[in-house]
Amino acid sequence: MSIVLSIKNVDKTFGGLHALGDINLDIEEGKTHAIIGPNGAGKSTLLNCCIGRLIPDNGTVEFDGKNMIGLQPHEINHAGMVRVFQTPEIFPDLSVLQNVMIPALAKRDGIFKFNAFKSLAAEKSLEADAIHTLEDMGLGEHIYKHAGSMSRGDKRRLELAMGLVQHPRLLLLDEPTAGMARHDTNRTIDLLKRIKERGMTKIIIEHDMHVVFSLADRISVLAQGRIIASGTPDEIRGNPKVQEAYLGGAEL
Ligand SMILES: Nc1ncnc2c1ncn2[C@@H]1O[C@H](COP(=O)(O)OP(=O)(O)O)[C@@H](O)[C@H]1O
Ligand SMILES: [Mg+2]
Repeated sequence: MSIVLSIKNVDKTFGGLHALGDINLDIEEGKTHAIIGPNGAGKSTLLNCCIGRLIPDNGTVEFDGKNMIGLQPHEINHAGMVRVFQTPEIFPDLSVLQNVMIPALAKRDGIFKFNAFKSLAAEKSLEADAIHTLEDMGLGEHIYKHAGSMSRGDKRRLELAMGLVQHPRLLLLDEPTAGMARHDTNRTIDLLKRIKERGMTKIIIEHDMHVVFSLADRISVLAQGRIIASGTPDEIRGNPKVQEAYLGGAEL
């Protein structure tokens, strides 16, 4: 099985706070790997160390066999590691379609070369791909609306489309269903299942155990900056250490 992302001996401190300690993690091609753990466990910090927003104090992050440490976030993104953020980062005053075309163009041309506002209308094949991606995410009826006018759930799915249109080699999702009502969460689970069936490799950080157990092939549990368990959903469900750390002893 080929390894897309390999995290080795990663440490990160903020002042006196040891946010991550000796993290080792391999992400297999085509799998959905969930990272769970209580608030403040270090999940977002770990993701930020992977995508170049933070530089670990120690350790390596290898993506497709290349060390990413020291590369800029846009370089890592361009290499194919795409993160969908915890808080939607969309352009509210642009149309839904323009929101998706901008990352597609940036991916193709590199962020320092493209001029989104000049060339969007002329980019027919890119536009077709953007429309296809939006329809695929169930946003077909919103394509020409202002992105800012959509519901919270649709904004999050737009953000997912902005990631997918870049055809990532590895998609990192930080709490894709946070703040969603149950019916919205279920819709997003269905979309993520569809992406999974196509074989896309994903890391998903998620609080909602229903989402985790619906999607994950493997689960790693972070607690106080350390991975305390990694395994299949069944192994994690039955692990007493995990129940203790994560749910105060309650059954998963
Ligand atoms: N930029 C930062 N500066 C200082 N402390 C931080 C910073 N980012 C995160 N932390 C701290 O590191 C710990 C892990 O945070 P985080 O990775 O956001 O946790 P999670 O995503 O699991 O909720 C927390 O104690 C948090 O307060
Ligand atoms: Mg977080």
